[in-house]
Amino acid sequence: MENIQHEYRGKHFTIPLLSKEGGIEIAPWVNTDLPPIPCDAPVIQSLNKIWDLNEFKRVHRPVSLGIIPLEEQLLFQMQGIAPRVLDMPIKFPGSKFRIPREFAQFVPVIQRIANYEKAINPDCYDEYYCYLTVEHGWVEPGTLQREAPCHVDGFQGARWNPKVRGNHTYTVGDVVPTVYYDQPFKVDHLDEAKHDFFWEFNRQVAETKSAHAWRTAPFELTLMDCYSVHRGDVAPERVYRTWIRLSFEVRIFDRLGNAHNPLFNYDWEMVPRDIEALGLVPFDPNCDPSLRVFPWQDLDGSPLADRSHKTQPNLT
Ligand SMILES: [Fe+2]
Repeated sequence: MENIQHEYRGKHFTIPLLSKEGGIEIAPWVNTDLPPIPCDAPVIQSLNKIWDLNEFKRVHRPVSLGIIPLEEQLLFQMQGIAPRVLDMPIKFPGSKFRIPREFAQFVPVIQRIANYEKAINPDCYDEYYCYLTVEHGWVEPGTLQREAPCHVDGFQGARWNPKVRGNHTYTVGDVVPTVYYDQPFKVDHLDEAKHDFFWEFNRQVAETKSAHAWRTAPFELTLMDCYSVHRGDVAPERVYRTWIRLSFEVRIFDRLGNAHNPLFNYDWEMVPRDIEALGLVPFDPNCDPSLRVFPWQDLDGSPLADRSHKTQPNLT
């Protein structure tokens, strides 16, 4: 398989060129085996609502769709076929899901997600894009598959005006499950044009010494939203990890580095985009330095000499 390489601000992106032939098209169907919909869960209550910072005052614990069946687990874990991709659209508003054949091993899980999505969101289902991220590979002990601060997916910062509907996202992984922080977060004191909210999430989690950390189970499919603060976990030993994410969004994800799906006819202008370019500062410049630097920076803010090394926030 051919790839396209991109690099900006020292970050490398490999975009696979995917097959046009043999794609798989799926649509949701009514599945009576779906888990019950917890209508009182904040993640369900916030569906289709416009982004609202007040929601960080409520705990948006992910909704569990249960452990995927064993036969789907075995398919999911097949190594060496699916390429890694970032935020590749597999559904456009009004379309079915179109999945390049390279991702066939994930089709049962995607079907499961499509069915649940249609069940929880019958009215606005057709108004969303769905983006697929696939991450797999060896993770070394003491490291994360993707180093990141405590964060949310689908944050709408100062660049997004007016605000739009919030993101909701399904994830499942085989080992080293994601850590969620089931605590309310204070954000009234922050200025979205000035402060890095993720560093502040780090600080508030560290304040509790991660007392509210909660992990999903291996192969547990969950639905979070743009207020579910989370972070990957540290691998206790060398493991091969496979993880996928399906994000439902009303926005176009045009970040340079995202994969292109050849089963749709679209031509977005892709632009370099990262949080570093926003020039944000920590709310508390005196907190533990590990909580307020980017992973590629040392504690004094200078770039780490060894690019394979990452600074982790001290959350305990
Ligand atoms: Fe995330």
